[in-house]
Amino acid sequence: MSQLALKGMIRPMRRSAGNTSGLTEPIGFEEVFAALPLLHQTPRSWAELAAAHLPEFLADHAVCEQQVAMYALSLAGHYPDDAELVERAAELAAEEVQHFRRVVAILRRRDWPLGGRRKNPWAQSLKAQIVLGREPWTKVDRLLFGAMVEARSCERFTRLLEVVEDQEVARLLADLGPAERRHWQLFYQLAGRETAAEALTARFQHWRELEADLARSLGVSPAVHG
Ligand SMILES: [Fe+2]
Ligand SMILES: [Fe+2]
Repeated sequence: MSQLALKGMIRPMRRSAGNTSGLTEPIGFEEVFAALPLLHQTPRSWAELAAAHLPEFLADHAVCEQQVAMYALSLAGHYPDDAELVERAAELAAEEVQHFRRVVAILRRRDWPLGGRRKNPWAQSLKAQIVLGREPWTKVDRLLFGAMVEARSCERFTRLLEVVEDQEVARLLADLGPAERRHWQLFYQLAGRETAAEALTARFQHWRELEADLARSLGVSPAVHG
């Protein structure tokens, strides 16, 4: 099968409105990017770099899945009285653990090393912007930080899917991109319970600009957020 035909099969999918059959229809890469809250687009050169260094990319990807699972559980720990948040965060963590296992399985089959802990300057700089000790804004910030992480991950997976020729990795990315898209929306919806719509939009705009400022210096290493 040609790469083009494969890409046609594994493009990002969505459920059709009113379609109860569970069948999905393909959507375009540009449509995925346009629906994300990102103010800076990762250059195609990053995807080409990551595609040329898949062992490094996948090792980093595995750690990202592990980290976001732990972050979701930490939210449940911060807000044990918020039953909806605890339940949704636990569901999300379980899903991220499945993503982690899937990436680890690919690494093991190929005898590629799992990277282990490493610095993620983008995530660390972004997380440092959470204003602590000022609820409900600390909770809003924690959730909007999560939304930005998921949105950027979705963008990077989709960007790489556009160029990667490894079919197993392409299938992984085609599955995970839409999941991370759901996740940024979940974080955003949870934040929306805490404040009026206008205030949420303003705070999210602040996060979007912070993230874009950080992202402009990226795209130079084959890491998910590198
Ligand atoms: Fe994930
Ligand atoms: Fe996610």
